[in-house]
Amino acid sequence: MENRPQWGTRAGFIMAAAGSAIGLGNIWRFPATAYENGGGAFFLPYLFALLTAGIPILIMEFAIGHKYRGSSPLSLARLNKKAEWLGWWQVGISFIIAVYYAAIIAWAMSYFIFSLKLSWGQDTEGFLFGDYLKLAEVPGQTGSIVPGVLIPLILVWVIALGVLLKGIKKGIEAANKIFLPTLIVLFFIIVLRAITLDGAMEGLNAFFKPDWSAIADGKVWVAAYGQIFFSLSVGFAIMITYSSYLPKKSDLTNNAFITGFGNSAFELLAGIGVFSALGFMAMQQGVSIDEVVAGGVGLAFVVFPQIINEFPAFNQLFGLLFFGSLTLAGLTSLISIIETFVAGVQDKFNVSRTKSVLMGGGLASIISLLFATQGGLYFLDVMDYFINNFGVALAGLVEIILVAWVFRELNNLQKHANSVSDIMLGAWWKICLSVITPAVLGYMMFDNVRTNISENYEGYATSFIVPFGWGVAGLVIVVGILLSFKSWKKESLSSVKEDT
Ligand code: PHE
Repeated sequence: MENRPQWGTRAGFIMAAAGSAIGLGNIWRFPATAYENGGGAFFLPYLFALLTAGIPILIMEFAIGHKYRGSSPLSLARLNKKAEWLGWWQVGISFIIAVYYAAIIAWAMSYFIFSLKLSWGQDTEGFLFGDYLKLAEVPGQTGSIVPGVLIPLILVWVIALGVLLKGIKKGIEAANKIFLPTLIVLFFIIVLRAITLDGAMEGLNAFFKPDWSAIADGKVWVAAYGQIFFSLSVGFAIMITYSSYLPKKSDLTNNAFITGFGNSAFELLAGIGVFSALGFMAMQQGVSIDEVVAGGVGLAFVVFPQIINEFPAFNQLFGLLFFGSLTLAGLTSLISIIETFVAGVQDKFNVSRTKSVLMGGGLASIISLLFATQGGLYFLDVMDYFINNFGVALAGLVEIILVAWVFRELNNLQKHANSVSDIMLGAWWKICLSVITPAVLGYMMFDNVRTNISENYEGYATSFIVPFGWGVAGLVIVVGILLSFKSWKKESLSSVKEDT
């Protein structure tokens, strides 16, 4: 344990943590979520969620990883032997996300190349589902492998595992130090151009116009918490793992604030860029903004290609910039999420980093081939929805309940964070974690279960949703519990004592 690898610099750690946080969620999820949940008024619940849940949980996860110096399962086992299963559950969630997130990055890479000739043509929707994905007719069918997706997908895994093989400092840190600043520069260019397009102002007005009545709607608060959770990468083992590589003297609280605000700043920037572009497109097509707003796959791969088609000049260049940004934003998040299971396997099975990257990453890359089939998009959609709602959010809720109420560790973690940080954590931190956040997340879970029991997500067949939605979300819990029964090498659980 004494020779656990470390980040080279503080900036390196912050870039890696921010690189994980800044992902597709910022670019394609935040703008539409904010627009649909009160526009300018959404910032109030959003900021509230950031300050009462996002940053406090981030501080807690930084403190756990830093104090116990292990992957999520090892850190939690050291916190309390009975908490280890939670670590594996989170690792399992990350594993599932990794296998489909890689596919989205593969699509972005393909579209990067397509930008050179604007190959998507005028019917961007037909191109995506037909020509490119060759989507199966019925959800749940795999059909055959689609080579156009398979090739970039292999490339994504080669890049991500290549970075991980090189280790923490020379691999993850070095990659983030290149990818993240590049992403920010590329994205800035897009935003600067977007806000000067005709119609941009109308787009921004639509985005920022506050609908204050939304504040009274519980769903809007739930959306804000959901966005913060996903966007900050909390609740999926990532931040515990990354902070376990911090040197002993590291300011945890400050780092959490920088990461949290940095992520939100990028989110806001993305909202401005996306809505300027949408305003431009609405004006070109003579329709209202409402008709062009989209999020997720539709925004990135259907609407943006249309916007790029209509750009006044340098269309190809903006295609390259946009899909290049998506690729970079995705890669840094993917790297962080694979590291969770690489570190978990390495700690538990006492194997070298190389072996655990090849074992864990190898298995994930093979399963990920499912998303290079004709049914890929449907599998992805269902898994993403269930693993977020009954994985990330639920594991986050369980994590704070266990740490705050069952094992009553908040005081110890507070002491630990305060011993190394400039900003002192006070009662506010404990109140957020033990009362406010569990109350909101608890309501969110209840609401989620209720809606999902009363109707199938997206109207998919029960025979598809049960195994691939509920089943996958449940399976990772079972696997987590099973893995926690395997015993550790004898000094694993105790060695941290001398170390802190
Ligand atoms: N914060 C990431 C995002 O916004 C969430 C994520 C992290 C997703 C790691 C996948 C892997 O996209």
